[in-house]
This record gives sequence, structure tokens and C-alpha cells, in this order.
Amino acid sequence: MEEGPFGGSCRFPGQGIFAYLNYLTPKSRREILELLVNGLKRLEYRGYDSAGVALDTPDGKDIAIVKKSGKVKALQDEIVSKGESLQIDLSTDCHVGIAHTRWATHGVPSEVNSHPQRSDVGHSFVVVHNGIVTNYKDVKLFLEKKGYCFESETDTEIIAKLIHHLYTQHPNYSFRELVEQVIQQLEGAFALAFKSRHFPGECVATRRGSPLLVGIKAKTRLATDHIPILYSKDHRPHGRGDMPILPRSDSTAEFQPLEDKEIEYFFASDASAVIEHTNRVIFLEDDDVAAVKDGMLSIHRLRRSLDDSHSREIITLKMEIQQIMKGNYSSFMQKEIFEQPESVVNTMRGRVNFEDNSVILGGIKEYIPEVRRCRRLMLIGCGTSYHSAIATRQLLEELTELPVVVELASDFLDRNTPVFRDDVCFFISQSGETADTLMALRYCKNRGALIIGITNTVGSSICRESHCGVHINAGPEIGVASTKAYTSQFVSLVMFALVMSEDRISHQQRRAEIFNGLKHIDEQIREVLKLDEEVSKLAKDLYTHKSLLIMGRGYNFSTCLEGALKVKELAYMHSEGIMAGELKHGPLALVDKAMPVIMIVTRDPVYVKCMNALQQVTAREGRPIVICEKGDTETQSFSSKTLEVPHTVDCLQGLLTVIPMQLLSYHIAVLRGYNVDCPRNLAKSVTVE
Ligand code: UD1
Ligand code: MG
Repeated sequence: MEEGPFGGSCRFPGQGIFAYLNYLTPKSRREILELLVNGLKRLEYRGYDSAGVALDTPDGKDIAIVKKSGKVKALQDEIVSKGESLQIDLSTDCHVGIAHTRWATHGVPSEVNSHPQRSDVGHSFVVVHNGIVTNYKDVKLFLEKKGYCFESETDTEIIAKLIHHLYTQHPNYSFRELVEQVIQQLEGAFALAFKSRHFPGECVATRRGSPLLVGIKAKTRLATDHIPILYSKDHRPHGRGDMPILPRSDSTAEFQPLEDKEIEYFFASDASAVIEHTNRVIFLEDDDVAAVKDGMLSIHRLRRSLDDSHSREIITLKMEIQQIMKGNYSSFMQKEIFEQPESVVNTMRGRVNFEDNSVILGGIKEYIPEVRRCRRLMLIGCGTSYHSAIATRQLLEELTELPVVVELASDFLDRNTPVFRDDVCFFISQSGETADTLMALRYCKNRGALIIGITNTVGSSICRESHCGVHINAGPEIGVASTKAYTSQFVSLVMFALVMSEDRISHQQRRAEIFNGLKHIDEQIREVLKLDEEVSKLAKDLYTHKSLLIMGRGYNFSTCLEGALKVKELAYMHSEGIMAGELKHGPLALVDKAMPVIMIVTRDPVYVKCMNALQQVTAREGRPIVICEKGDTETQSFSSKTLEVPHTVDCLQGLLTVIPMQLLSYHIAVLRGYNVDCPRNLAKSVTVE
């Protein structure tokens, strides 16, 4: 499957941008609001926790913002209830509206944290944002010194306030020039759409590392299918005041802008939001600044680089809305499996610095000295989250040199396990609401242990009740069977191990290996995902069987447990993850010609032992399918079929070997005719005991 620009790939799946501009195209305010809300509804499938819109007030002198926690439907109801004050029956010729669905990464889900974010109560500038600004604290500090007060906990608010600050410094700058200045100051990843009271009828949008497209709907045929790129003169930045301000860009190129008497523009993070209006779109590139003024679209770049093209093509999308919505995927689970190259990067974003091989986990930084003094680490979770702890235990033991205990929350509670003040307890949960894990958390907290949460959901119970923690930032996971949360939990725990060992000379080489592994992990996951075809063929051989054994040891044991769990929960097929070292203590009796066996054998310290197990299986006439490293012919000679994954450092290999298992369980379930997003008897977050 190809990752297309049509929604198959989205770096921040839980966030959606939709903006609409009509120029000389009369629309009632009701129509505009419906259009904006409808655009958001088209983005709903990505998951979100709140939504908002901004449009001009009826007198055109201010901007009205409506925001709501929860579903887009709630936003819609709010708009309807405000119908009178919004004067939705008035009509307008030229108007800009921006809208957003948010999934909390900074601050809890709430109205004030939703987008659009504003520069000031007078709404000089409003902005919607997908992504994460990693240097927002520095920019915020700068702006606070300038007298700005912040109302939300978001990174996005600094963008609205920064453009306002620049506007007050440079009142003669154009809207587009102000946005160019703003993005010079931002680090991280973003897609942005701006609206301003000072620039009525104009919209400026830009992106870096997060998708954004412009849709064009013209009454008459467009005169061109390319938009030329305008470059600012190559000025060198010079510091002014305490923030470097680039000189004003100057684009005097003699160019014919895209122009039409009656024209409508759409800015969206995802083609599914625009396709019902137009199939003519431009996919913006990183650092493109697209501006519409007087109905004309122009695309600017601050500086020229060698491989830049001279124009952006207007592409005609030939896709049906349904097709785009799913982004070529047939289910959320499949979509989430394929998001993993991006979700693991988002987990590391702003935390891992590959230039100097350092990690900062902002959420637990202050507690690290206390963690270093502890007597043992306890990792507690259920299901997949528990497996992420199994996956990283060995590395944690190695790099922290502390005893590491991994517990299933339910069993831990059943045993009234002794816990002490000098224990550090991790609670791992995608939703942050898992009832057993939450109860185990309270149990440990009562006994005075330090409580660290590893969650995917900002504002969740585990997040609130823990002393500190790490948000895994994998984006919303909608499929009931966890996939990308697992790999992101895994990466989070690896980052913790790296933090704990940063000042140990003896671990420096090992750490360097791991940093190098993490650096390439996204490309390697992408490579593993290419096995999809092959795995789907394999599923055809397996799906009628009653049982599937998955064997491995060491760093790959967690893949066996996690793979077996996926097969059970999705395909309703008996499956067992077996510690290969235990084979001769019983499980070997299950093996014969007919029993399907998958073995995971990679070139790590237990390779020889794994090969030994493999031979025990073949000696019983078992014909194992082997997941091994690329080009490992020795291992392959013992298998009936192999799935080859790239080599990475041993302690990260599980991030790669788990992916064929996710794909396999998915394909078996589909072949058996089950709904993979909603397996029977299971709920996404288990909030009951
Ligand atoms: C924070 C921002 C992040 C931003 C970064 C830039 C939030 C939620 N995160 O990330 O978007 O890019 O600064 O510097 O605003 N916590 C718990 N329990 C948990 C998980 C987290 O108590 O289970 C706490 C942490 O201790 C921390 C806060 O929640 O106080 C945010 O955690 P996290 O998002 O991991 O922190 P940063 O990575 O610093
Ligand atoms: Mg954000």
C-alpha cells in the first residue's frame, strides 16, 4: 500500500484544519458556518477531543470565535444556539472563516485550549494549528516579558501572540510577511491557518512537517495549472531587540497571480475536507507560505534552495470522498498500524536530540534525581501496555542498574504486593483511564511511592493522579486493538532508560548505539510495512487454523505476547506467546506437522538459543514461519517461510518484529470476516474492573 497525499499519511492524526475563503461569491453566514462545520465533520474520522471556528462578526469589525469540547455536533449545536447573535441570515461577498479539531497535546481538552487561539481580546489575529511547537516555552517567556498574558495552556497561543507582537513592531508589513516572520521563530512541526481583523478578506496558511493543502474552486476555468513560487530577496538575518527579526521580504517578481472574478479557496490538512467542493488542489511543501488577498492566491518562500521547484502544481484529485476518508485504509486499526513511522517520531519530537545524543523528558525532568535514589522500578499495566513494559525491562535493568519489576495491574492488586516509599512505580495506559491500572496507581500512591504515568491522553485520570509522567504523543488511537500506542510506549520507556544513564561513562557506547537505532527507526518501520502483501498471503494460509503459537525470547519475547494478544482479540483464534526457553518444559508437546508456529529469531545475544529452539521445533516436524533479520540465510534454511525485517540495535528490534504480527492479526481477522475496529466483547478503554 502506498502512503498517498490523500490522507494515508498524516503526522498529527488527531488534529484537523479547515479554512474557507469566498471572494466575490455571495454566501449567507449560515452557509459559511455550515461549510466550516461540515469541513470539520469530514476530518472527524481522525479523532479529536474539541473543535472550534472563527469568522467575522456581522458588523465586520471583530472576529467571533465559537469553541466547544467534545464532538463537532456539540459545536454545531452551540452555533445554532448563538444563531441570533451570529446573525446567520446575513449574507457576505468576501469572507474568511477558519476551523479546527483538536486533540490535546498541550494542556487538557477544554474550550479555552481549543483552537482558534487568539492574540488578544480584540482578536487582532486568530490561528488554528496542527502539530507541536517544541520551543513554545522560550517564545512564551519572550512574549511575557513584552507584557502578553496567556489564557490557555497551549503552544498555539504563542503563535497568535507572536504575530500580534510583530504586527505592533512592523505595522506596514503585509499579513503574509508577518507570517513569514513568525515561522522563522518556531521550532517543531506545524500546519497553520491565520485570520486577522487587520486584514479582512485575507487568509495566510503555512506548514512545516505537517500536511496542508489549498483547494481552489473557480467559476470559470483557471488560466493556469501552476502557481509560481515567489522568493524573498536573500537577506541575512540581523538581530533587532532581543529577538532576531528577518528583514522584510520583498517579492517584486512580475507574475500573474491566480485570479478569478468569483473564486473560493479552502485550506485543509486533509483532502477529505475539500473534495466535495473542488478537486483542484495544491499540496503545500514545508515552509511554503500561501496567501490569499483580493481573491488572488500566491505562494512564497523565504529563501531559495537548490532543489526547489519554480511552481506548485494544481493537481486534480480523482478520488471519491469515501476513498479519501479512509486514506486507502479499510479500518482505523490498519490506518494506525501504518501511522507508526510518524507516531514514533512524534513520541521523540522535542525530546530526543540526535545531534548531541541527549534526551529531555520535560514531564519527569525534575523527578529524575529522586528516581535515581530509588530502590526499584515497578512497571504496571494491562494487556498491550503490560507488553511494552516486558519489551523494555531488559534495557531498563541494563541502563538503570536497578531491579525492575513488571506487573499486570490486576494480579498486582490481587496479591496486595508490598510497595515502599523508595519505589518508583510506572503506570502505563493508552487511555489513561484503565480501571485496574488506576487502582494500582492509587494503591502505590497511598504507600508513598513516586508515581509516574505513561499515557497517550492529556488530562486523563492517570495523568492527573500521577506525580509526573510522559505523554507518548502517538495521536488518538481509535481502533480497539492497540498498535501505535504500543510502539510509542516502547519508545517512551527507552527514552527514560536513556535519561537514567546519561551520566554513566560505562554506558556511553551503548547509548550511542541506541540513539542511532532510534534515529532510523521510522524509516525501518516504513520498510517493515512493505511486507504487508507478503503477510496478507501468509494470513491466507493460516486463517482457517484453530491455533497459532508464537515463540521467541529475550528482547523479542514481548513481540510473542503482543502478537498472540492481537491474534486472540481480533481474529478470535487461539494463540499463545511462548518463551522459547520454556519449550522443553511443556509447550514442545503442542508442536507437530499441523500446528502453525511463528518464531522470532534475530541476531541478538540469544540468537544461538533461539536457533536451538527452532531446531527443536523442526525436529518435531514443525514447519515454523520465521521473522528474522534481512538476509539471514542461516535462519531461513530452517523455516517454511520467512518475513525479513531490517536490523537494528537488539533492544529496539522488538519495535520492528511486532509490526508483521500486527499486520498478520489484522489480515487473519479480515479473512475471518470480523470487524477489526470493534472486536466482540471488548471496549477501547477498560474503565471497569
Ligand atoms: C510539554 C508539553 C508539550 C510540549 C513540550 C515543550 C503538555 C501536555 N506537553 O511536553 O506539548 O511540546 O512541553 O516543552 O503540555 N504528566 C503526568 N502524568 C502522565 C503524563 C504526564 O503527570 O501520565 C505530566 C508531566 O509530569 C508534565 C505534564 O504532564 O508535567 C506534561 O507531560 P509531557 O507532555 O510528557 O511533557 P513534555 O514532554 O515536557
Ligand atoms: Mg498542539
